[in-house]
Amino acid sequence: MKVVAFNGSPRKNGNTYHALKTVCQVLEQNGIETEIVQVGGKLLWGCQGCNGCRENPEHRCILGDDGMNGFFDKMVEADGILIGSPVYYGNVSTETKALIDRCGMLAGANGAALKRKVGAPVIAVRRAGSNFTYAAINYFFGISQMIIPTSRYWNMTLALNEGDYEKDAEGIETFRVLGENMAWLLKKLED
Ligand SMILES: Cc1cc2nc3c(=O)[nH]c(=O)nc-3n(C[C@H](O)[C@H](O)[C@H](O)COP(=O)(O)O)c2cc1C
Repeated sequence: MKVVAFNGSPRKNGNTYHALKTVCQVLEQNGIETEIVQVGGKLLWGCQGCNGCRENPEHRCILGDDGMNGFFDKMVEADGILIGSPVYYGNVSTETKALIDRCGMLAGANGAALKRKVGAPVIAVRRAGSNFTYAAINYFFGISQMIIPTSRYWNMTLALNEGDYEKDAEGIETFRVLGENMAWLLKKLED
């Protein structure tokens, strides 16, 4: 079993990364392979609404080769998907939105390709906007017919600067419990 974790923060080693790492470490302890994929900071097109992914025979995104088809392949190959984003002006980062919109369209064009996979959001926030951002990512999982595990609090860490994550004991515990619950769910769904 494998979980792919997308880091939507341009800060490669920031709070979102460390929150994803906590979830992945718990998954690994439960025998589940993980991979963290850097998305933030890449030059990614937003969805053009061209329906090209529905019309071309391979059902690939026809925008320039910016790596999005590769991200979608990683989603399809995985049993579980984590999408991590910092809160930017009360919402997901630009790169996270591109990932959601274009992989969402690709999933539809490829016959509900993410159906019944397990997915969870991972949010880093200084102060406000985490619940909206958490919901924005869950909308993607929901419309993709995915199954969403939860934790003892909404999946967020209160952190501003790189390294602040380590000071948020409740956030760390929230992500640890998320890892346990995601592993439990993946094993239940295995057969
Ligand atoms: C462009 C930008 C917008 C931000 N907007 C918000 C916001 O709306 N609410 C908030 O609480 N923090 C906001 N922040 C702070 C980040 O969410 C916070 O620093 C977070 O820990 C960053 O995660 P990272 O280290 O993974 O990049 C913003 C930061 C940036 C750079």
